[in-house]
Parts: sequence; C-alpha cells; structure tokens
Amino acid sequence: SEGRYAHKRVRSAEDPPGSLPQSLSTRRQLYERDFPVYKQPVEVGVFSLDSKRNFFNDSRKLRYYVDPGKSPNFSLRDGYRDRYVKRDDGVKEKLDHILRWILENRERLQSVHSAPDCALGVDFITWRGHLTKLLTTPYETQEGWLLAVSRFRGTLYISEVETEAARVSRENRTGRHEEMMYWGYKFEQYLCADDVSSVPDGGGVVNTNEAFCTVVQTRLSDHKLLFSGEVDCRDKDPKAPPAPACYVELKTSAEICTPKQRSNFHRYKLLKWWAQSFLPGVPRIVAGFRDQDGVVVSLETFHISKISQLIKNEHNCWRPTVCMNFCSDFLSFVKSVVKDDDPRLVYLFAWEPHRDVSYSVHRDSEYNFLPDWYVKEMTN
Ligand code: A3P
Ligand code: MG
Ligand code: MG
Repeated sequence: SEGRYAHKRVRSAEDPPGSLPQSLSTRRQLYERDFPVYKQPVEVGVFSLDSKRNFFNDSRKLRYYVDPGKSPNFSLRDGYRDRYVKRDDGVKEKLDHILRWILENRERLQSVHSAPDCALGVDFITWRGHLTKLLTTPYETQEGWLLAVSRFRGTLYISEVETEAARVSRENRTGRHEEMMYWGYKFEQYLCADDVSSVPDGGGVVNTNEAFCTVVQTRLSDHKLLFSGEVDCRDKDPKAPPAPACYVELKTSAEICTPKQRSNFHRYKLLKWWAQSFLPGVPRIVAGFRDQDGVVVSLETFHISKISQLIKNEHNCWRPTVCMNFCSDFLSFVKSVVKDDDPRLVYLFAWEPHRDVSYSVHRDSEYNFLPDWYVKEMTN
C-alpha cells in the first residue's frame, strides 16, 4: 500500500510533469519492514593503489592476516612522528579509480543480457563508503552528506561531495585527532604481512596512500549495484573460501570498562562496523581495544552475521532492516528523479540530520564528476 513507501509516491507515466517526489524522509519508523532482498555480493575484480596513489589492475597491495597469538601489547603511537606518510585528504579523487577499473575491465561487465539502453548492465556505480553512509542515515544525528548523481548510458553514478561542515572539521583537526587517525593504520601494520608466508613488520613505514580494493556486484531489491571498497587483508589459509568471504576487516576502539561504554559501543560503533562490512560481504572484523595511551590491550573477532544478535539486548537499538530499506528507498528516489541521461548534469542530493533528503540540479558546474576521458572512452 502507499503508506509503505517513504517518499510520497512513485512517479507514473500519467503524472503531469513536475509532480515527482521532491524529498525523502529518513524517519526510522518508515523503514521497519521485512528485510529487503540483498544478493550475496560477488567479487568481479580488484585493484591496488601504490604509495603514490598510482592505479594497478591487480592485487599487489593485498595483505595477509597474521594472528598475533598471545595477548598483544601493540603501541599504536609508535612511528607517528618518523615513519608515517599520510595521504593528502584534500585531494578529491571522486570515482576516478573505479572508472579506470571499469574501462580496463569492460568485457567482464557487458554481459549479453544487458539491456541496449544500459551499456554496463548495472543501475548504480559508487564507492562502498557512500553506501555505508546511506545505510546509517536513519540513525545519524551528527553529520549530514551531499551525494552527486549523474545518469550516463543508463547507469546512475553516485559520488560524494564534501560538506562545508566536513571541510571545516578536516581543516581544523586537533593534534590528538590527527594522531588517533594514524592509530587505525598502525594497527593494520601489526597484523598484516605483505606476502602469504611472511610476517608483519611493525618497524616499517605506514603509508596511507596504499590500498587494495575489491569490486563487487550485487542487488538490493530491484537495484543492480556495482561498487568498490577498500579491504584491509585476507585470511592467508589457501583453503579459505573465495573472496569476499576470505577478507578480514580490522578496527580499533577504546577499551570497554563500564556497562555504559559497552552500550555505546553496541549502539554507535557496531552500526558503522556492521554497515561497512555487510555491504561487500566481508564476514568478520578483528577489533583491537586500546587504552588511553594507544596500547592495544585485547583483540576480539566479530562475525558480521552475529552482530544483530549481539545488539538485541540494547533498548531502542539500530536495526539492519531499517538501514537496508532506507538505502533501497533512497536508490528508488534517485531513479525517479534522475531521468536525464547526461554526464554534464548533476543532481545533488543533500541531507542534514533531523531533515528530509532533498536535491538540486546543476549543469556544467563544479559538481561535474564524470571525467571527459571516461565519457569519451565509454561512448566508443
Ligand atoms: P579504525 O578502523 O581502527 O578506526 P578502515 O577501518 O575503514 O579500514 O580505516 C582504517 C583507519 O583509517 C581507521 O582505523 C582510522 O584510523 C582511519 N579512518 C578511517 N576513516 C576515518 C574517518 N572518517 N575519520 C578519521 N579516521 C578515519
Ligand atoms: Mg581499511
Ligand atoms: Mg579497517
């Protein structure tokens, strides 16, 4: 029935022009429905970015998880001053690496079943991180987002635009915050080896330009998705299941000492952790809990499939079904709004906490994100 849909109604052929829904509600109650179809994600490719952010169509930057065995005592502060090369996060790469991957792997995508008006056979192309933000939106009270969307040859491309508030926070981070951002990468260095039979090197340089990314295909309700996400490492057992099931996500978090801290961890942190790994089908997270001085005092494995059970005892906690239904309805909203097939036309979807999602339209603006080299090559 009509009430099941969060945007007022779906546009039909009889609607007069200009009557399409102008906004989308993010109220949780609207998304308390059955869990939508979410097909098991299939890895269709990988790519790597080296220490200079150069693209390679291979897995050269994939690392291997090494269990430290005994209780660890990793100092996450080690090397911050003298063995850290930080990626310049003022450089906005938009979808460029994914687009490069697509051009180099077109034949893997263009199935014989693709509709002639949809050159790649998928409805949406984006980063996993953008979808993570959509999944957590019904529960987010702090940070809004801006998502630019263009339709090109039948496919909708979604690329994030940094909000003014996010830019101001980024340009005014405290020294403590800058150092804590390093800790997560340092943790990875203690647990990951570069080769299947080598061991981690805690004495090496942490370079956050380097990345290994998986490209997966899946379907949410009737939306065919292709997205890429960074992967921290894989199980080194050659008998481990094929990707993405062999991948391991690494996380750090403050040590939990009180029931209140445990509850906050379940309510806020596990939501983000779950959303990030559930999307690409990464089955487990290895978490390092650290003290005030950045020393990891314990490790714990979280299985993504068990997280919804873990949080069931929290009162008024987040629900995976709300996250997935909101994302599905947002994608339907985008499909209904972005009808013009034109890479120079950007629909900018905007959301602030406690507001509805709205949008504005921009031609040949600063928001354009599909580069000429991509449009030209794809038009061939
Ligand atoms: P933690 O995960 O331990 O917080 P990811 O977990 O996605 O693989 O990211 C690796 C690390 O990058 C994070 O480690 C954190 O240190 C840093 N990081 C990622 N996203 C961040 C963000 N939005 N703000 C600050 N640091 C971030
Ligand atoms: Mg990572
Ligand atoms: Mg991680």
